[in-house]
Amino acid sequence: MEEIGVLVVSYGSRGAALLDSLLRSREYKVNAYVADRQKNPFNVKNSKEHIVIPSLDPNEICKFAARHKEKIDFAVVGPEKPIIAGLRDLMEKKLRIPVICPTEKYALEKSKVAQRMLFQEVVPEVNPRFKVFDPKEFKSLSEVKRHLFKWLDELDNKVAVKPDMPAAGKGVGVWGDHFNTREELYEHFMANFKEGKVIVEEKIEGEESSFQAFCDGKHLVPLPETRDYKRAFDGDKGPNTGGMGSYKDVGYYLPFMDENDWEKEKKIVERIFNKLREGEFNPEIRGVPFYVAFIHTAHGPMILENNSRPGDPEIINLLPLLKSDFVEVCLRMIEGSLTRIDIEEKASVVTYKVPPSYGGYEEFFPEKVRREEIGTPIILDKAEKIASKYGDDVRIYPGSMEVRENKKFYALKSRTVCTVGIGNTIQEAREISLEVLRAIEGGGLWYRTDIASKEHISKSIKHMRKLRKDR
Ligand code: GLY
Repeated sequence: MEEIGVLVVSYGSRGAALLDSLLRSREYKVNAYVADRQKNPFNVKNSKEHIVIPSLDPNEICKFAARHKEKIDFAVVGPEKPIIAGLRDLMEKKLRIPVICPTEKYALEKSKVAQRMLFQEVVPEVNPRFKVFDPKEFKSLSEVKRHLFKWLDELDNKVAVKPDMPAAGKGVGVWGDHFNTREELYEHFMANFKEGKVIVEEKIEGEESSFQAFCDGKHLVPLPETRDYKRAFDGDKGPNTGGMGSYKDVGYYLPFMDENDWEKEKKIVERIFNKLREGEFNPEIRGVPFYVAFIHTAHGPMILENNSRPGDPEIINLLPLLKSDFVEVCLRMIEGSLTRIDIEEKASVVTYKVPPSYGGYEEFFPEKVRREEIGTPIILDKAEKIASKYGDDVRIYPGSMEVRENKKFYALKSRTVCTVGIGNTIQEAREISLEVLRAIEGGGLWYRTDIASKEHISKSIKHMRKLRKDR
């Protein structure tokens, strides 16, 4: 078997899933070099060389890659931070190692304002009504407040407040979810406005789905849709998180969508891609430049935001189902010859276990926190034993977890570990994912119990029917 060296830039379970998919190549023996946010036990165990770079700073990652330059054939990047900071530009220029992610110029994720402007030009129907508040355009805070409140009058307060830059200020806030009064909204707005531009846009009602596509700069290869569960608690309550779990149906779209929605989504993204491509082939748009949070409304799909990287957990639903060899897919993305990807017709469900400090759990449910367990090692043995009976229909991917010198695993601050269940139906996949997840011990970890539940899915279906009927 031919040997190939791959640098994986990892953050969390998504990085472990990317690495796992590379290592499962049937065509190549992969030697992995991992630049990681933490000592992820899966990555440490399965890489030839592993380094922790907590900042994921492109210069540091390049220094690590330079030490293994002769052995690395290409790099794959999961998290957005190094993509936005221009990792690909730097690595290709300095080391001539091809990198699978967009260049800084095409990292649309870096500016929500620029995204809205681009959509306005190419696919205006996906934009809600929005206004950009630019600190440079106002003379005083009272002027800002006046303009903001006038806009709120027009939209009857039903808005989403979004910082231009990812993770700036307080992040995205939504009327009715994160604030219920104008003063609370203003406080949220100001926390973002201090950092730069803020978009205030009409709150859209609908059902969310995540669109992702692999792209080689010439072709866009859409992957099946997934549904992310962003809110911390059951019933879509509580603060927003990175995503507590996600599901994929057997086919390409979700139970509350129809084929028409799916076709429309593909056309929308294709139009954006064609605009950015500016000609036949633009290799700078490589990787997963379009991971689009769609919202299905009474009037068709609209876009909440676009990310320029694979989704976490959404890509974890898909990688285990690739029939195409993932190394081959990566090589084709570099070459500009990725015309199709074969995917198993199966459902998958990802569920995460997270620490009590995550998602506001300690704050909202202090009585449920198992304090005596906090800080104890995470034990995967029982889960792995159960997983072994399901063979390839289950995966366990450590995320924000580290292996320490005593060889034991400990939870860090973010999503600790996820399990992926694969089945012939969503419910079958869900049962597997949950059975294995429940068997993960230690750390006082908790999880959402309604990810991909029949009740949750049927609520989405009913909601969508009502929206279409009331149209
Ligand atoms: N699932 C949310 C994200 O990856 O941004």
